[in-house]
Amino acid sequence: MAYDIKITKTASPKPKPDQISLGFGKIFTDHMFIMDYTEGKGWHDARIVPYAPLDLDPASAVFHYGQAIFEGLKAYRTHDGRILLFRPRKNMERINRSDERMCIPLIDIDFCVHAIKTLVSIDKDWIPTAEGTSLYIRPFIIATDPFLGVHPSHTYKFIIILSPVGAYYPQGINPVDIYVESNYVRAVKGGTGFAKAAGNYAASLKAQAEAAQKGYVQVLWLDGVERKYIEEVGAMNVFFKINGEVITPSLEGSILPGITRDSVIQLLNSWGVKVTERRISIQELYEAYEKGTFEEAFGSGTAAVISPIGELNWEGRKITINDKKIGELSQRIYDTLTGIQFGKLEDTFGWTEEIR
Ligand code: PLP
Ligand code: COI
Repeated sequence: MAYDIKITKTASPKPKPDQISLGFGKIFTDHMFIMDYTEGKGWHDARIVPYAPLDLDPASAVFHYGQAIFEGLKAYRTHDGRILLFRPRKNMERINRSDERMCIPLIDIDFCVHAIKTLVSIDKDWIPTAEGTSLYIRPFIIATDPFLGVHPSHTYKFIIILSPVGAYYPQGINPVDIYVESNYVRAVKGGTGFAKAAGNYAASLKAQAEAAQKGYVQVLWLDGVERKYIEEVGAMNVFFKINGEVITPSLEGSILPGITRDSVIQLLNSWGVKVTERRISIQELYEAYEKGTFEEAFGSGTAAVISPIGELNWEGRKITINDKKIGELSQRIYDTLTGIQFGKLEDTFGWTEEIR
């Protein structure tokens, strides 16, 4: 596909929000990117237009059978005014893995990174500069065939919207309390857990709502077969530091291969900290706690960055991790990762891409 994007700018730019009370995902910028897919024609009509509601047929497949996927990445404003993206190609590669699983046509990775850069550049004045804030980028694809039969759609829309954001959790970088879910499951091998399919999140809402009623921010999912092995949290992968070693659940098809997860593993390796990807049971975690070797726990994700876990509740057994304080290693990872993302530290991994 040629790199041409038709640009129509808004005639009435919106006022910029107060950067202190951004929260997450509530405010959207002036423009959005759209392109259409038609079978036989491929992706076409790439355009940037003023942010506005979509006009869709009520019979559109996405509304009925949830054929939809999404991504999440961020643009960061550095102290010297540059704009950086963090490993954007990894998100576009993951779109294609999600697409493949959901029978959605693949995208051109280079073109879509170019589309993100063009859109962010047009709305660059929306990138917040307050500490810990960034511009969240949400690419997504929806099936648009107006047809009620269950089959892969022949038409789609790929859309990118932008949202200036602060912390994902109201707690910020302070430890969050997590409920270990032993009743509902998120995914099983052979399902869609490894894909960023919209329906995965719809299916998780009930567990999250029940956990919220009990005072927990999110749930920690266990495997869907034995309800024994740890998978991930609602919007984060998880890491545990036990007796000096960092352990994270291995990728076996049911959890999302997080880009932050991969970056954390690379960082730990570069520091010579032992990090192991393997199956880890909730029982093992509680035993480590009893023995006094459970040192730190944290989640990793684009939205949540590094989020220490302060308390776990598994079938009424509550354990407090590191006195509900941010662990030394969690803090070091947070500082390094955000240091690279915000251009304060040298990016020896080549993870950032500047938008010029
Ligand atoms: N797990 C789930 C279910 C998620 O939704 C996310 C967020 O994207 C993650 C993990 C973390 O992935 P990443 O680090 O690529 O943002
Ligand atoms: C992200 O971290 O980008 C996510 O997609 C999490 C989200 C479900 C808010």
